[in-house]
Amino acid sequence: MFMDDGKRFYITTPIYYVNDIPHIGHAYTTTACDVISRYKRMKGCDVFFLTGTDEHGQKIQTAAEAKGETPQELVDRVHVAFRKLCTALGASNDDFIRTTEDRHIRTVQAVFSKLIEQGDIYKGTYSGYYCVPDETYVPENAMGPNHTCPDCGRPLIIMEEESYFFRASKYVSQLIEYYEKHARAVMPKIRYNEIMSFLKGGVRDQSVSRTTLKWGIPVPGDEKHVIYVWFDALVNYITAAGYLDDPEKFARYWPHVRHMVGKDIIRFHCVTWPLLLLALGVNLPAEIFAHGWWTVDGEKMSKTRGNVVDPFKMVEEYGADPFRYFMMREVPFGNDGDFSELALVGRINSDLANDLGNLLNRTHRMIQSYRGGVVPASDEPCDLSEMSADVMRRVDAAMNDYAFDDALKAIWEFIGRSNKFIDETMPWKLAKDDTQSAKLDYVLLNLYEALRLSAMLIAPVMPDTAKRIWTQLGIHDDPVKSQYDSFTWGNGAGNKLGESEVLFPRIDIKEWQKHKEEQKLQEESAKNAEAAANADTQSAKTETPETEHEPEIGIESFKAVEMRVAQITKCEEIPRSKKLYRLELDLGYESRVVCSGIKAFFTPEELTGKRVILVTNLKPAKLCGIESNGMILCASVKKDGVSEQLTLITPESDIPLGSRVS
Ligand code: ME8
Ligand code: MG
Repeated sequence: MFMDDGKRFYITTPIYYVNDIPHIGHAYTTTACDVISRYKRMKGCDVFFLTGTDEHGQKIQTAAEAKGETPQELVDRVHVAFRKLCTALGASNDDFIRTTEDRHIRTVQAVFSKLIEQGDIYKGTYSGYYCVPDETYVPENAMGPNHTCPDCGRPLIIMEEESYFFRASKYVSQLIEYYEKHARAVMPKIRYNEIMSFLKGGVRDQSVSRTTLKWGIPVPGDEKHVIYVWFDALVNYITAAGYLDDPEKFARYWPHVRHMVGKDIIRFHCVTWPLLLLALGVNLPAEIFAHGWWTVDGEKMSKTRGNVVDPFKMVEEYGADPFRYFMMREVPFGNDGDFSELALVGRINSDLANDLGNLLNRTHRMIQSYRGGVVPASDEPCDLSEMSADVMRRVDAAMNDYAFDDALKAIWEFIGRSNKFIDETMPWKLAKDDTQSAKLDYVLLNLYEALRLSAMLIAPVMPDTAKRIWTQLGIHDDPVKSQYDSFTWGNGAGNKLGESEVLFPRIDIKEWQKHKEEQKLQEESAKNAEAAANADTQSAKTETPETEHEPEIGIESFKAVEMRVAQITKCEEIPRSKKLYRLELDLGYESRVVCSGIKAFFTPEELTGKRVILVTNLKPAKLCGIESNGMILCASVKKDGVSEQLTLITPESDIPLGSRVS
């Protein structure tokens, strides 16, 4: 096995799905990888930092169909948002890979062919329960009630297809052996244990091709199959390292590779991927680190809840550095954590404006007024200098373990100690006494050095802030381009200060809360206006069925609407609503609650027991405080947008509940 000399460092984020726009989960991994990259560069490492986008597979094809675009159009459009995210966060990635690029397609096909040739990929038949939206087969012992997906709860279908299989089972014992010898190969410990016990339970050969979709990389020589999206996606890490095209680059970086991923995708990264690498005969990742998940104000983050944290908005409102600082400081890396804007504002005020900002202001002001802006010299030993060596050791140890919060805690203890040093030494008193001039020099120099060092230490997390501090300290270099280990305490003597500037203005909480409330109201009214506009156009269009027609659509758009036979099992009035009933419907495989505006036409008794057609994949909506999950189909005659006559659409004969309408 190779020896890591610590001088090279290849770090990757997962490649992000482009079926949707970036959220805080994406910003989190990208930021963490950027922080470690910048830190390693400052330690003199030769760093290669990769991120990119995952652009094939069913998810993308479905998203494109829903938008009426080709998959290529969709990925070309949406991947730009992920590039922009890198820019907004100030990420220093060296490459950005897209799985639709030629270099990647060629690499995936070469890997696939090689594995076929050596007998590690073979053709067989796969049959099993399959979740279409999640693109996964579900083992029978893991299925939810009534053959539903344990993850998303939707009905599974039985799928049988000819498939290529990867002989994963052949390499399992080798992988276990590797992990037994390399405790850092999977981090943190809880994930290591999880993976080890999974591996010891045995791994079956894995299906690595699909005949059910088109949007993927064709199997070389058998174009009926496309390569499974996870096989395709994982290979990105070697594509970008030059596996196929640049052996020199590959030798330089691949042995030093680290993957950073969210905890939900560790099996792919810590089982499937290393098994493939063993089959390919290249070395295994040095480290795979799985981070936790963010909730938002204590709740699960989801589109339905409408609480998805938009990283662009956070950067725009608070700046990239404070947002990065918050993500790295708030939660021990590897644990789940809670995001709240109020907590972010709290940290800006206390850690950034108060602790760091004040140290800079006070020190700058005193050197300016007592020493004309020139940093004095002093040889007197100082405990700040002693502490600094300890802080640097702690930062190194923490960074080595991806414990970003610990690194920041150590730096902030040092900043706190420096602020206390001012209170203890009382430079304003020393300045009034000529016999204390050397003592004042000693205080000012050591404070200056504490700031110069603090800025350098925070540079991986807050590169822009670090530079702003150095500029005020009269240093014209960029801290992120400096080297940690060349920092020498005392070297700042003789520097001439730059202009003073407030680093982080304090945020007034009352004002901020007011502003947030206004923002919320504005967003809501914008949403309502949009909904009203949509409703208007809809009712206008459906007013008289004979005269108003929709534009032509493709069959895909129609197929995107999932409709099924359901039975109304319960109908209740909603006290606050004149138009709506609360209906409970049985789909055979699950039950649903739907709010329906048909109160004017039926009594609850007439509706209960009726079989109807339910649109099942409509985005949930809150109506009169009730979450409605679907819509039942009716035909109506309208006058001035109001239904005059209305009838339910019902199946003409008996057919099982849940049957799909097409
Ligand atoms: O999984 N908090 O892409 P993806 C923290 N294309 N992290 C979160 C999160 C949350 N609330 N929600 C999601 C994919 N994530 C694949 C990867 S790699 C060869 C292929 C994280 O866009 C999640 O853990 O769905 C994952 O690491 C990342 O966002 C990308 O998710
Ligand atoms: Mg995901």
